[in-house]
Parts: sequence; C-alpha cells; structure tokens
Amino acid sequence: MNQTKKKLLITGATGYIGSWLVRFFSDNNYHIIAHGSSEQTISQLKQKLQQQHYSLDAIDFWQQNFMEEWWTFPNFQELEYIIHCAALTSVRKGVYENYNAYFDVNVEGTKRIAKKALELGITHFIHLSSGQIYGNPEIFPIDDHTLKEPINLYGFTKLMSEEVIKSLGTFGLNHTIIRPFSVYGKEQSNIISIILNKIKSEEPLTIFGDGTQKRAFMHIDDICNAIHLVLGNEVCFGEEYNLSGPKEYSVNLLVKMISKKFQKEPHIIYKGSRVNELQRNLADTSKLKRLGFHYTHSLENFIDLLPTF
Ligand SMILES: NC(=O)c1ccc[n+]([C@@H]2O[C@H](COP(=O)([O-])OP(=O)(O)OC[C@H]3O[C@@H](n4cnc5c(N)ncnc54)[C@H](OP(=O)(O)O)[C@@H]3O)[C@@H](O)[C@H]2O)c1
Repeated sequence: MNQTKKKLLITGATGYIGSWLVRFFSDNNYHIIAHGSSEQTISQLKQKLQQQHYSLDAIDFWQQNFMEEWWTFPNFQELEYIIHCAALTSVRKGVYENYNAYFDVNVEGTKRIAKKALELGITHFIHLSSGQIYGNPEIFPIDDHTLKEPINLYGFTKLMSEEVIKSLGTFGLNHTIIRPFSVYGKEQSNIISIILNKIKSEEPLTIFGDGTQKRAFMHIDDICNAIHLVLGNEVCFGEEYNLSGPKEYSVNLLVKMISKKFQKEPHIIYKGSRVNELQRNLADTSKLKRLGFHYTHSLENFIDLLPTF
C-alpha cells in the first residue's frame, strides 16, 4: 500500500453516490475505506469494482449496519477524511412504520460517526444531506437564506443530521454540508431508469402525483467533481453547498423526452402518494461555482446517448 495516499472513509460506499465516489477518489489516488451495511452489498460492490478493473488490494472495506444496537467505529489509523453518504434515502419509505429506522440511521448513525471523527481529529468531514430539508419554499432557486421546512420524514431526519454535524462543529469538527437535490447517471435506479424500463418492457408506468413536480437533475460526475473541490478545502469548512442541475424537468416532460428518444409512449397511471413530496428543487449553485465548479453533463445529452433496444 502506498503510504503517501490520503486515507478517506466513504460511508454508504455500496450506495449509488458512494460507489461512484469510491471509483472517483481511487482514480484520484486516495486510499479508500469503503463502508456498506452488509456482507452482501459489500460483495456486490467488490464485484463491480473488479469488473471495472479496480484493484481490491488498494481499497479497504468496513461492514456495519447502523441499525444494530451495539456498534463501534473502528480506530482506522491515519484517517484524514470522511465523506458520510450512508442513509436511508427513500422519500416514499419514510412512513411512520419506519420512523425508528430513519432516526437510527440518519440521525443516530451520523452522530456516532461524526463524534468519532471529532475524537480522531480528522482533517475534514463531508456530510451528504439533501435538498429535501427545504420542503416546498416559495422562492427559487434555493440558496443559503431559504428557510428549512422539511415536509417528510426523510427530510426531517436529514435536517436533524445537519444539526448534529453543526453542533459537533462547535466542538471543533471541520465539516462541510453538501446537499444533492436530484442525481442521475449510469447504473442508477431512479425516475429516469423507471420510465426507461417501463417503456422497454411496455408495462404501465405509475407516476405519483400529477407529474407536474419538477426536478433539477445533476449528473453523478458533476456531483463527484463538486465534492472533489470541497474535500480538504479550508475555505469550505463550516459551509453548506446546494447541488442541483441548472435546469428543471417535470416528470411529465421527462416521460416525453424519453418516449421521443425511443419512439414509444408508456401507458401512464397517475396515483396519489402516501408521503408529502416536493414540487420543485432548483438550487442556487453560485457559491459552488465560486470554487471553480462548472457542469460537464446535460440531461438532454444523457438521454440522447441512451442505448436503443
Ligand atoms: N441520489 C440522490 O439523488 C440524492 C439526493 C439527495 C441527497 N442524497 C444523499 O446522498 C447520500 C447518498 O445517497 P445515495 O443515492 O447514494 O443513496 P443509496 O443509493 O440509497 O445508498 C445508501 C447507502 O446507505 C447505506 N445504508 C443504508 N442503511 C444503512 C444502515 N442501516 N446501516 C449502514 N448503512 C446503511 C447503504 O448501505 P447498503 O447498500 O450496504 O445497505 C448505502 O450504501 C445520502 O445521504 C442521501 O441522503 C442523495
């Protein structure tokens, strides 16, 4: 192992954003510790990395389910950075039956990791929160002054996790809060892949709400680039960055764009949702751009390049 590499723990490395961060920061010469909640998800991550010719010798793995009552954070030697991605992330599964689980993973899990990070004296802790903490504000784009008024359990627990991080900041934790809004890219299961799969399989497509809700999607490569600009950057200590794409797309518009590409229209079933969902989520990214950030991908281009079947 190359001792000059900076050691970076990525929690939730088995998830969508985490797995891309593992590859991105491996490519950028970091020594990665990749966390996942189970042996099964870690072995799936290992398989994916091997298929893409990443050497498993250069990556360490940490398996821990944050819902277990007794768990401790190992004393990783010379750990410099943490990017905390692990969370229960589904807005729609954030129902009362899952109240304890969302609290345990998103709030208590964050507290344990961040507290340990402070005790270890790591250089920088990046916490991935979410645009869901804003709920449905009246003014867009969403910036640092927008009121934080979440409207669902996921959003509430992410806001609580932010407060945990900030409270530890008062005791000396060098931290930055990053809020992705809506992310897209390869290997993903989200609204874009759901529409695509339903068009391919000619099955009915269920849309929750009336389809007018808009999302400002940001490509996973742009998310990785943004986090790279922030990691270890002292200017970003104590700061918060909202990450959305530059344009909003309604769900109905997305269906139209993907249908046009494949020249096939799905049968749509509109259905009410059990949880409160956002109407819009466009972020003001000017603060991020002042760090030198620029977008490298567009959703139109991504859809255009999707392989036809
Ligand atoms: N993707 C987006 O559009 C988006 C938007 C806004 C904010 N975010 C935030 O970005 C972060 C990463 O999101 P993502 O899309 O990559 O999420 P994801 O694909 O759902 O991955 C979640 C990660 O959290 C881990 N996790 C879940 N339950 C756990 C538990 N009980 N104990 C330990 N780990 C657990 C999962 O581990 P296993 O897979 O091993 O179970 C997985 O690695 C999250 O904090 C999320 O709130 C994402």
